[in-house]
Amino acid sequence: MRKTIIAGNWKMYKTISEAIELANGLKRELFKLDAQDIDIVLCPPYTALSEVSEVIADSNLKLGAQDCFFKDEGAFTGEISPLMLKDVGVKFVIIGHSERRQYFGETNESINKKTKAVLRHNLIPIVCVGETEEERERGLTFQVLDDHIRNGLKDLTEEQIGQVVIAYEPVWAIGTGRTATSTQAQEAQRYIRDLLAKFYNKEIAESIRIQYGGSVKPENIVELMQEPDVDGALVGGASLSVDSFAAIVKRANEVKK
Ligand code: 13P
Repeated sequence: MRKTIIAGNWKMYKTISEAIELANGLKRELFKLDAQDIDIVLCPPYTALSEVSEVIADSNLKLGAQDCFFKDEGAFTGEISPLMLKDVGVKFVIIGHSERRQYFGETNESINKKTKAVLRHNLIPIVCVGETEEERERGLTFQVLDDHIRNGLKDLTEEQIGQVVIAYEPVWAIGTGRTATSTQAQEAQRYIRDLLAKFYNKEIAESIRIQYGGSVKPENIVELMQEPDVDGALVGGASLSVDSFAAIVKRANEVKK
């Protein structure tokens, strides 16, 4: 059985005081959930990592970051290393979000390097894959997923791939309110799992967690989670308020497979 994982990607939102308030609110709302059953991950901006780390220490909430560089240290102005993230209490790192591909020149090659760097430090990468609207309309969805998985996760050992979380985030569903239907999410996520079985083996493929991301809300999380290959969600906008994120987490936790 794969453990459910719900992560909140706060993107470039929340000052330090706002981040502390949100983390405290979530801690209060979610303290009853068992960390054995579900991974609940908060990914604030870098500036708030330290404070959020303190707020959620000794709670059932875990800390994530939104990106990182692939070197441990060096003259790389503006970058943050996995070593530094680990130091502040980070356990998960989002890699290759489509916004980074779109605005910051992220490629499969840099995603591959970052994924390996994160794994080297025993952190868990959440590797994002997904097609744009144009690619979907042109019938290229599976081809894009193949490219992202094949090249973004290139040369990972069986042990390494077993640690990875994959987030299927169709770009056309991010921040648009247009969630993929649960059938569309399932179809893409089954395809990803089949690819992993082809590149590694069936047992490993069945053990890897695949999240869905793109306009996830309390109203659609249950339907998505009921799909056999949807193991959780990567939530953007709805992770920015206590009520909506806590509702998503609680509802996801109730869907037993
Ligand atoms: P929204 O939930 O705001 O659509 O964002 C999804 C996302 O990009 C999470 O990483």
